[in-house]
Amino acid sequence: MAASTQAATPEGMPTDLATVPRAVLEADPHAVLARHRAAVPCIRTDDGAVMVLRARDVQALVTDPRTRQVETEFARLRGITAGPLFEFFRQTVLLSNGEVHRRRRAPIARTFAFQVVASLRPRIRDLAEALLAEHQPRGRMDLLADYAAPLPARAIALILGLPARDVPDFTAWVYAMSRALTSAWTPAEYPEADEAARRLLGYVEDLVAERRRAPRDDLISALLPSIDEDDPEAAAEARMQIVSLIVAGSDTTRAALAIQTGLLLAHRSQWEAVCRDEGLIPGAVAEALRFEPAVGSFPRFALSDIPLDGAVLPAGALLSLSTLSAMRDPALYADPDVFDIRRTDHPRWHMVFGGGVHRCLGEALARIELEEGLRALTRRLPDLRPDRPLTVRGSAAIRRVDELPVSWPGGEGSAEAERSAPARAGWPM
Ligand code: HEM
Repeated sequence: MAASTQAATPEGMPTDLATVPRAVLEADPHAVLARHRAAVPCIRTDDGAVMVLRARDVQALVTDPRTRQVETEFARLRGITAGPLFEFFRQTVLLSNGEVHRRRRAPIARTFAFQVVASLRPRIRDLAEALLAEHQPRGRMDLLADYAAPLPARAIALILGLPARDVPDFTAWVYAMSRALTSAWTPAEYPEADEAARRLLGYVEDLVAERRRAPRDDLISALLPSIDEDDPEAAAEARMQIVSLIVAGSDTTRAALAIQTGLLLAHRSQWEAVCRDEGLIPGAVAEALRFEPAVGSFPRFALSDIPLDGAVLPAGALLSLSTLSAMRDPALYADPDVFDIRRTDHPRWHMVFGGGVHRCLGEALARIELEEGLRALTRRLPDLRPDRPLTVRGSAAIRRVDELPVSWPGGEGSAEAERSAPARAGWPM
């Protein structure tokens, strides 16, 4: 695998970096990334990105002035060039730069940060407790669908002031839309994702109009002054930041909460340690986010040729800064393939939330949700068991967990109750 010093092709693709098909990466991401990371600083993926693998490079490039945030390039690469989903890519805070980015981020940063620090932890604790109280008598649940999904969805509904009855609808739209932000995206998914985007945008438009008529004590009402209805393009852009919060805050934390629970249950002595000592919770959250991140990379665009350990990231390349790889880099973490909630070598700024002016706006909220989600589980269900091992799919961007069936003793539907119950075959219906 020779490192490249060659200039870019007109499309911005380096010509002789090792190319790794996505399918190969998806099949066994950690092993494939480790093999390449030891040999070269970057690889090319067959969907048009250059993936940066080493911790030092990811940490530096995130704020390097020779890079900028990508805008609509990834969408266009996937053939998304018009329609509601494209409008999301075109107008979201995440995919913008300079003055436009500041204009989009400032209002939500102000109101959102205030709401988070002001009052959320106890309310999120109550949400987690209420969800578990609902499921506890059954003795089993799909932790992903029954707990990890509704907790962040209800939290964002609470913050934005959305009615609880709307949660199933808007989460279904968000999950369909955010498929476009995963590495497993296929063009066949476009119609559903585009339709979901249309509905979510319409939903937020209606909510804003409703709050304009009758403001309340919620984030949408607080954002009304930043939405200039006399300028339709500016108003659409401002509303898109509400959509961005809903999209960014639902799927990521859903996956992260399922992953951290699955990892802890697979490392039973560490699960039991957290059950005994709540002081270990923040370390457990940080380690789960490192070991098996819910977001495996974030994008940047190379503005000029960037030399990297003998290779060159060519001007015009779409970069995928692989946190999935960087957070297993032995140059940064001791024994990176060991899951250890007592690890003391996490950098001050956890890499999973990106960096610079685009650093995740929801980090504080995500940490509260993950911490309170874990606290409630260890308090109420210390005997929790996985019925199947955790599987995480995806090698970049938002990653996926499809299910995490779990059970605990004492409930009517627990694995234990099922084993001791009389055979059901032949029971009268
Ligand atoms: C475990 C959960 C989460 C992870 C791993 C995560 C990760 C990330 C990453 C990697 C970025 C891009 C950073 C960059 O390009 O440098 C980002 C941006 C963002 N995140 Fe999160 N996020 C999570 C949860 C949330 C939540 C709960 C919210 C809000 C409700 C949120 C809102 C945002 C927003 C608005 C941006 C765009 C910021 C900007 O471009 O200025 N995220 N997040």
